[in-house]
Amino acid sequence: MRIAILPTPEDIAVVAADRIQSLLERKPSAVLGLATGSTPLPLYDELTKRYEAGEISFANTQSFNLDEYVGLPEDHPEGYANFIHRFLVDRVDFPKGAAHGPNVWTGDNDQAAANYDKAIRDAGGIDLQILGIGADGHIGFNEPGGSFASRTHVDVLTEQTRRDNARFFDGDITKVPTHCITQGLGTIMESGEALLIATGAGKAEAVRQLVEGAISARWPATILQMHPNAIVLLDEPAAQGLELADFYREVWVKHQA
Ligand code: F6R
Repeated sequence: MRIAILPTPEDIAVVAADRIQSLLERKPSAVLGLATGSTPLPLYDELTKRYEAGEISFANTQSFNLDEYVGLPEDHPEGYANFIHRFLVDRVDFPKGAAHGPNVWTGDNDQAAANYDKAIRDAGGIDLQILGIGADGHIGFNEPGGSFASRTHVDVLTEQTRRDNARFFDGDITKVPTHCITQGLGTIMESGEALLIATGAGKAEAVRQLVEGAISARWPATILQMHPNAIVLLDEPAAQGLELADFYREVWVKHQA
């Protein structure tokens, strides 16, 4: 795992966008895995800015969202398919139908999850997966206790995650769905590169576990320690619990040299 500790979320967005831009220059047909939530929004703004400046194109790219809530109407603005269209897909030049998400509206969510996993495989797998992290250590919506080998599946959200996400639902936890379909940890681990972004002090404990804790289903993101190409981009508040922060800074600078 390589760790960058950067001054601001905007600095993180530049580093993450550089990696995506250089991937798309090497491989215009690359498959991107997209996270929703607040953390990647500066990155999606940066990608939009570069698209508008003619520096990046998604015209041959496909994307796969990490997850989707179960139980929201298809047109709900906080549904993740709608969210990703609003904050990235509709602002750049993805071809129509190239942005995918779990289809939670078929009436058979187990089958929809299996179909989604197969669609990722059929697309050739995810080249670069953008990840956020939950305060309880989830990636995607793989909550504590889940299998490290899991494929895309129906899952249950913890109360902490529902409380954290109530801000998108008028601050009312009762409006936050209890279930989701999420890419599994096994699915996420097959991505060519995993780019995890964490900002703010609220993520400090999850980041400490992710980077320096023991690999454990209690903190699902710790499985990324086993990913051969994982990069963790942090701001100072998110990095505040790291014992070896100075060493990570040194390694990051030497890697850039
Ligand atoms: C979103 C997702 C989640 C979020 C995580 C952090 O698609 O899979 O793992 O990345 O809950 O959310 P924010 O960024 O809103 O703090």
